[in-house]
Amino acid sequence: MSDATGKKAVLQLDGKEIELPIYSGTLGPDVIDVKDVLAAGHFTFDPGFMATAACESKITFIDGNKGILLHRGYPIDQLATKADYLETCYLLLNGELPTAEQKVEFDAKVRNHTMVHDQVSRFYNGFRRDAHPMAIMVGVVGALSAFYHNSLDIENVDHREITAVRLIAKVPTLAAWSYKYTVGQPFMYPRNDLSYAENFLYMMFATPADRDYKVNPILAKAMDRIFTLHADHEQNASTSTVRLAGSTGANPYACIAAGISALWGPAHGGANEAVLKMLDEIGTVENVAEFMEKVKTKEVKLMGFGHRVYKNFDPRAKVMKETCDEVLSALGINDPQLALAMELERIALSDEYFIKRNLYPNVDFYSGIILKAIGIPTEMFTVIFALARTVGWISHWLEMHSGPYKIGRPRQLYTGEVQRDIAGR
Ligand code: SDX
Repeated sequence: MSDATGKKAVLQLDGKEIELPIYSGTLGPDVIDVKDVLAAGHFTFDPGFMATAACESKITFIDGNKGILLHRGYPIDQLATKADYLETCYLLLNGELPTAEQKVEFDAKVRNHTMVHDQVSRFYNGFRRDAHPMAIMVGVVGALSAFYHNSLDIENVDHREITAVRLIAKVPTLAAWSYKYTVGQPFMYPRNDLSYAENFLYMMFATPADRDYKVNPILAKAMDRIFTLHADHEQNASTSTVRLAGSTGANPYACIAAGISALWGPAHGGANEAVLKMLDEIGTVENVAEFMEKVKTKEVKLMGFGHRVYKNFDPRAKVMKETCDEVLSALGINDPQLALAMELERIALSDEYFIKRNLYPNVDFYSGIILKAIGIPTEMFTVIFALARTVGWISHWLEMHSGPYKIGRPRQLYTGEVQRDIAGR
């Protein structure tokens, strides 16, 4: 538990004073423990959890005003450029970056869990070929709970830890297959001789007919960095969903499927797909001014802009933009949508409407342009986000289950009918 500061907030309520303890973390705002307002016959009220700390955590820290994102204390730009995704996974799960020996062991563990039970592949046949891959992912990741349930004791720390490895290892396989299924190509099985990002791109784009398929190392490096940039982000909507589902003691694979469901929304992880659709609709730089007017009249949102926490630059967007430049120039791609995105950003950052509302590019604004350059179809963008965020979700699930926790059960302000009887019967 965080240290009690000895400081207290005093609430004047119905002529009485209620002292509410204040706790401090290592970084960020102090928190006011409000549970005693219940004894005074009140609830707190905070729709959308704008000012609510739902838990204590040591995993990720965000300072939205300064544009800071730390994973176990390490800045995201350092992790994205000096570490790889599996090292970041190890860090999120264990609290420290792996030693060289620990890295080899963790990498081998993940490689040896990339296969799924062969019956899992049959779930795909229940979907139409034009199913959205996120709909497929919700189904097949949830289905894993049918394969790991009776033998899974969430009170057993070893069971919890192997669950984390299984999810980090198997989700890329299921994700690649959700793409293969929609394009009618045979599933490619994971290979143990490839790195994490190479293996995913191999399963996405190789075919049995092309035995010598080689993954472009530039694309594998970019893919790995995109995974790292999406790995975790404090108590966002999908992570909070996983924690809430996990607080009931539910099967962890089912909890992760709940997280995938929450991530799919265009206000959250679905924004990367929405950004590319928006750029397609705008078409050319000449149409930007007219589009911006629609944003100001609230007909449309500027997707990939704005954030509940960042009221400054999203540090991930900066790294994503640098990666975008690197990948496009390395591949010799001159994507007009990059120029369009940069013009949108330039106008938005100089326009009073956006400045007043602290609207800056977020992680989703540039990611789609890189994913397109890698060859990932737009409908798979949020699947990539879910793949990368699986480690964040399961890290928070592990953290919650590593100590005492209560079932999450918010209350409400009821404004419905008072009690009444069914008349005339
Ligand atoms: C992610 O929480 C996380 O950490 C999420 C995430 C993660 O890693 O897990 O960072 C990933 O989800 C990033 C966000 C991706 N979403 C988008 O890019 C969709 C577009 N953004 C918006 O929907 C919005 O900015 C949110 C949902 C991200 C944040 O919404 P808030 O905090 O509830 O803010 P709000 O809707 O109250 O907006 C405040 C004002 C409003 O205008 P007024 O009513 O004051 O006049 O800003 C406006 C909004 O209309 N506004 C936008 C806008 N976002 C907010 N106007 C135009 N375009 C936008 N994108």
